[in-house]
Amino acid sequence: MATHQAVPDRKRTGIDAWLDERIHSGKAIDYSLNHPVPLHIHPLDYLGETTLFIFISQAVTGMMLAMFYHPVAQTPYHYCPDAASTIINGLHLCPKAQTVSPSEAWQSIQVIMSSTFGSLIRSMHFWGNYFMVVLVVMHMMRGFFAGAYKYPRELTWLSGVALLGMTLGFAFTGYLLPWDMKAYWATQVGVNIADTIPIVGTPLANIVRGGPVLSGSTLGRFFAIHMLLLPAITGGLIGLHLLLVNIQGVSAADGLVVQSDGETLQQIPNVPEAAANSNQRFVPGAAGARPLGNASYGSTSAASLSPDADVNTSADRL
Ligand code: HEM
Repeated sequence: MATHQAVPDRKRTGIDAWLDERIHSGKAIDYSLNHPVPLHIHPLDYLGETTLFIFISQAVTGMMLAMFYHPVAQTPYHYCPDAASTIINGLHLCPKAQTVSPSEAWQSIQVIMSSTFGSLIRSMHFWGNYFMVVLVVMHMMRGFFAGAYKYPRELTWLSGVALLGMTLGFAFTGYLLPWDMKAYWATQVGVNIADTIPIVGTPLANIVRGGPVLSGSTLGRFFAIHMLLLPAITGGLIGLHLLLVNIQGVSAADGLVVQSDGETLQQIPNVPEAAANSNQRFVPGAAGARPLGNASYGSTSAASLSPDADVNTSADRL
């Protein structure tokens, strides 16, 4: 099993010592600093950190945008159960004539975009969304092809799947907020797809929309989900995800491997390697010639894994 290596005695100074004296934070800091890391790292191993960076950037730019954005829209319909009404899907609606004027939401975006700083922050947030979706998928693919989803990292993978759902949730709810034609009709399509699910579809779509049609209530709901619900859940999930990574270490291979003495390593093969040649072995530490995510566990000693094993005990790292 992956274990933390012995924590070296660290002299505490400054804020570190000040905090440790009061809230005993030293052990937690030592724990997070001393986790197994691979000897040889591949650029793809950093995709999780890159995604984290974009998430933080999205949080900061999102907070700045929220100071100027107004989640308010007038729509051609509003819900009026007891007035003279039109019945759609069994629900009463009162058509409100002549109300399609530019909404506050749309206008507030125009205000944001009219200043240089505002347009910079909004563009960062807008493009950051696409970057985050692409990076999260790349990070997931790296985890898949590296075999990092296997024992003992199943929980890291599952928390990652939930994070993927959160990322897509951010993208979907954020898309409506500018309240322009594209946003309105794209969301209409998305919600209508949910509406087609048998039995639960229509009640679910009504909850998401805040009524039978996509209206100003939907905008309020999407804003609350985008700004409050999703960030809170995602923050917790990222904390769990990173804690698990910290406990188990990153699974990237560091040249674990070749056994000239015939000893067989128990490995978690990565998918391309397993498909190409299940008996393939790699030279210890050979740059570029190592399988991503190759991992060894069981009774194999650190010394038998790599000549550099005393630098960073590979056996401690799954
Ligand atoms: C907001 C989204 C996410 C963030 C911020 C994030 C962050 C991270 C970070 C910082 C690491 C540590 C090192 C590395 O880069 O591999 C990591 C590892 C990992 N992540 Fe994510 N992740 C996210 C989404 C996902 C998703 C969608 C999956 C898969 C469904 C996933 C699965 C994993 C796995 C299996 C590891 C362990 C990798 C290994 O040990 O080789 N993560 N993640």
